[in-house]
Amino acid sequence: MAERSAPVGVMDSGVGGLSVLAEIQRLLPNESLLYVADCGHVPYGEKSPDYIRQRCRRIAEFFQAQGAKAMVMACNTATVAAAADLRELYPDWPLVGMEPAVKPAAAATRSGVVGVLATTGTLQSAKFAALLDRFANDVQVVTQPCPGLVELIETGDLASPQLRQLLQGYVQPLLAAGCDTLILGCTHYPFLRPLLAEMVPADVAIIDTGAAVARQLQRLLAARGLLADGPARDAAFWSSAEPQSLKKILPVLWHESDSVQSFQL
Ligand code: DGL
Repeated sequence: MAERSAPVGVMDSGVGGLSVLAEIQRLLPNESLLYVADCGHVPYGEKSPDYIRQRCRRIAEFFQAQGAKAMVMACNTATVAAAADLRELYPDWPLVGMEPAVKPAAAATRSGVVGVLATTGTLQSAKFAALLDRFANDVQVVTQPCPGLVELIETGDLASPQLRQLLQGYVQPLLAAGCDTLILGCTHYPFLRPLLAEMVPADVAIIDTGAAVARQLQRLLAARGLLADGPARDAAFWSSAEPQSLKKILPVLWHESDSVQSFQL
C-alpha cells in the first residue's frame, strides 16, 4: 500500500513534460515529484510504437523501484503507444496519460476548423483516430505533423531563427485552412507559446492539456486517499543522455536544480 508522502513519477521523451510538471506543481504543491527525461532516445515521434513501449516499461519499472505512488505519462506520443500496455502490467497503479485536446477544441471553435500540431506517431495512431471519431464529427480537423521541432526545443534555445522558420512552416497552412483553434498535441510545444503569439492572430485559441492532466492526477490520488499533505521534497531529475545537458536547460524551462542524475536503462 503506497503512502501519501510517496512521490509521483513523471516522464517524457525529453524536456517537453516539464510543461506538465509545472502544472502539477502549481495544482499540487505538496506532491514530491520525480522526472525522467528519456533524452537518450528523443524524439519518440518518429520511433515505432514497439520501441516506445519498451522505453516506457523501463521507466515504469524505475518509478516502481523508487516507490512512486502514481505515474504521469507527460507525453502524447508515449501515451498512444504505451499507456494500455502499462495499465495491463500495473492494473492497480494510478497512471495518467494524455491526449490532444480534440474535445475542448471542437466545443470552442467558431469557424468549425481546428488545427492539430503533434508528432507523426501521435497523428498516425489508432487512438488519435478514435478521438476524432468520438469528438470531431461536426468540425473539420486539419492535422500537422511537426518533425524536427522537438529536437530544436531540446536545445533550450526557444528563439532561434531555425526554430521560428520551421514553426512558421507548420502553422501557416493551418491558418490558411481557416483554423481558429490550435491544439498543441505534444508536451514540448507549450514552450513555443511566445513564438506562436507572434505568428498567430490574437483571436485564434491555443489549447494544451497540461492543466487537465494535473487535475486528473488530483482526482486519481484523491479517490485512493493518496494526496500528500506534508511539504514536498525538491523535484528530482534523471536523464538517459548525459545529465549535464538537462542540467543546463532546466533553468530555462523549469528552475535551477542540482538534482540531475543519470538514468541508465
Ligand atoms: N513530448 C512528446 C509528446 O507529447 C514527444 C515528443 C517526441 O519525443 O517526439 O508527444
